[in-house]
Amino acid sequence: SPSDPDLVERARKAKEKLGDKVFVLGHHYQRDEVIQFADVTGDSFKLARDAAARPEAEYIVFCGVHFMAESADILTSDDQKVVLPDLAAGCSMADMATAEQVAECWDVLTEAGIAEQVVPVSYMNSSADIKAFTGKHGGTICTSSNAKRALDWAFEQGEKVLFLPDQHLGRNTAVRDMGMSLEDCVVYNPHKPNGGLTADELRAAKMILWRGHCSVHGRFSLDSVNDVRERIPGVNVLVHPECKHEVVAAADYVGSTEYIIKALEAAPAGSKWAIGTELNLVRRLANRFAPEGKEIVFLDKTVCFCSTMNRIDLPHLVWTLESLAEGNLVNRIEVDKETEAFAKLALERMLALP
Ligand code: 13P
Ligand code: SF4
Repeated sequence: SPSDPDLVERARKAKEKLGDKVFVLGHHYQRDEVIQFADVTGDSFKLARDAAARPEAEYIVFCGVHFMAESADILTSDDQKVVLPDLAAGCSMADMATAEQVAECWDVLTEAGIAEQVVPVSYMNSSADIKAFTGKHGGTICTSSNAKRALDWAFEQGEKVLFLPDQHLGRNTAVRDMGMSLEDCVVYNPHKPNGGLTADELRAAKMILWRGHCSVHGRFSLDSVNDVRERIPGVNVLVHPECKHEVVAAADYVGSTEYIIKALEAAPAGSKWAIGTELNLVRRLANRFAPEGKEIVFLDKTVCFCSTMNRIDLPHLVWTLESLAEGNLVNRIEVDKETEAFAKLALERMLALP
């Protein structure tokens, strides 16, 4: 949808007034009306690195979701302020693992006598509390662009991995990239006593997957892959690793949002692609590459935006930038010091992965 010209002008003016004091980060799932004001765009790994590389910016405006803003706060200095234009922009997957549930899980692993062998690996899509738990227990964070390297590292530290909170990224990486079998993986359900697992099942497992998922990527099914292959002969199916295992197994290529963009940049004219990820990004790529003769369609017939990513719209961005330009700090995301110290340890282990 075309952006309101009055709001575009207001955002432009406020940003100009702030100058170098503000740095605007935009995740690839953001709306076009917001992405046009981003100083950098990226997947969650690139944005975490880019946020840390801007020590001169007093305000980091994060156009993305809550866990991304928290990670930026952890990785930037104390006097830099990270701002999320709508505080309700959370991530339903990140909300699927709470600090209490994860502490309880660790007790279950301790009871089963395996806690010392377990290394936690937490997906970036988790709260600062979960990242702190991970750091405290010798683990690392990963994103969809470095999950294999994170697991390689973790299996050098211990014999088992507790993967939080996305079971699909954990399973897809273990089976597709690490040569493990589905039987090496068990699913820990935080809503059942002992995670719904026996001590023997826990002892036999190599990957203990938290029962979390992304509802946006969960809508792609094996049928969507089969349908599109029938509809568009010769189509390349490219999906995000948050999709279910059967979808990833049937796809031709799998990768993070940044990987998806690079793959399409490198694709030859005349090639056809079906993309299994959030719709703002897929539409933007379809429009961008159509003039080069690359046909890009959304993998599913239904529409799937990430509703929380979409909460950051132009009116929220204008309000944020104008408030900051008037010296009024709004919507700051600040992680408390103790949580920050342990979470930072886990994030730095990720940034140091080979
Ligand atoms: P990327 O790291 O691939 O950008 O993924 C972030 C995300 O939330 C996907 O749902
Ligand atoms: Fe979270 Fe899924 Fe939205 Fe990504 S797409 S932010 S994992 S709900």
